[in-house]
Amino acid sequence: MELQGKRILLIISGGIAAYKSLDLIRRLRERGATVRPVMSRAAQEFVTPLAVGALSASHVYTDLFSREDEQDVGHIRLARECDLVLVAPATADLMAKMAHGLADDLPSAVLLATDRPVLIAPAMNPVMWNAAPTRRNVETLKADSISMIGPMKGEMAESGEAGTGRMAEPLEIVAAVLDLLSPQDKPLAGKRAIVTSGPTHEPIDPVRYIANRSSGKQGHAIAAALARLGADVTLVSGPVTIPDPAGVAVNHVETADQMLSAVLSGLPADIAVMVAAVADWRVVSSAGQKIKKQPGEPPAPLQLAENPDILKTIGHHANRPGLVIGFAAETQDVETNGRRKLEAKGADIIVANDVSPATGIMGGDRNRVKVISRSGIEQWPDLSKDEVAARLAALIAERLSSTA
Ligand code: C5P
Repeated sequence: MELQGKRILLIISGGIAAYKSLDLIRRLRERGATVRPVMSRAAQEFVTPLAVGALSASHVYTDLFSREDEQDVGHIRLARECDLVLVAPATADLMAKMAHGLADDLPSAVLLATDRPVLIAPAMNPVMWNAAPTRRNVETLKADSISMIGPMKGEMAESGEAGTGRMAEPLEIVAAVLDLLSPQDKPLAGKRAIVTSGPTHEPIDPVRYIANRSSGKQGHAIAAALARLGADVTLVSGPVTIPDPAGVAVNHVETADQMLSAVLSGLPADIAVMVAAVADWRVVSSAGQKIKKQPGEPPAPLQLAENPDILKTIGHHANRPGLVIGFAAETQDVETNGRRKLEAKGADIIVANDVSPATGIMGGDRNRVKVISRSGIEQWPDLSKDEVAARLAALIAERLSSTA
């Protein structure tokens, strides 16, 4: 019960993401928090006060001019009788009001009157998120010490449009609440980490490329897990379809060459975790125009050249991070190949997994790994990729604390 005894004033403003606030209430309460909800008029168009009241087991406050509510608690007490004011979803409109100190309804009046920490989870159409007024308001709110989680990249619920604007998931919001209310141990505070993730795309011509089936799930999860332990993380990601993880600086690249430059420009660092499935080869000179098939003629052979080995470069670099970790995706002799890689690449740890198609690991949500270091081999059980990431982050923290 990590939030036992914590009182959260949850302001729900009017966006389609309000449906997720119902789950958020449940998630907060199951961790021991009490949730007192405030709903804007527009929010009530998306979810009913009845549902919000039932899930929170609380009176739902909706009206600045309600005689009963004002006599009972009043907006000033409402704003102060809590440990945190959480706004989820935070619409562009409410953020604009907050940035300008408007107070013409209950949510905005409470936000102006509070002296408690405020966390907002913005949700809006990507064009609204990128609009100049919203950009200015976000900067103002940050300068006013308002904490923010998201918005995330992804598809919008109502329009199917893709871009940044999706509200963070309830569990991501809960993690941000936990960070604010009961700061966890941050054993990696002050440490810099570089993580690579995803595949690389090596162009053949402007429309074709060589790639592999890596989803980026494991690498992204590791970047997020290191950030949760307080590390300052740069994630160098190849082309993936999953969203950027929260709390991490992301550098999007396409080719192995670009990935290497991005990693090198991230040095110096304390930790490097190279998870990307970097293409071993690139096409020597990718065509400037789309290669046309010539009737009756055999296809032109592709001439390949070896790509730089990013892990090996980092493992032997003059500015080598104190802890260098690689992954070994193998389909046979997982252990022997893992050990060999430890030496050849100058790594401290190799996390080896069997990616034979039968295991479903590549692209899947679970992983079964062996952790190979000079002090021995550890077989980890079948775990979700998030669990593997959390364990690896804990192992990294332990290693760094014993060498500190
Ligand atoms: O040699 P192999 O590709 O199996 O090694 C896997 C490990 O090396 C992974 O950690 C991967 O991120 C890294 N690697 C790299 N650059 C390459 C090839 C692999 O960083 N060109």
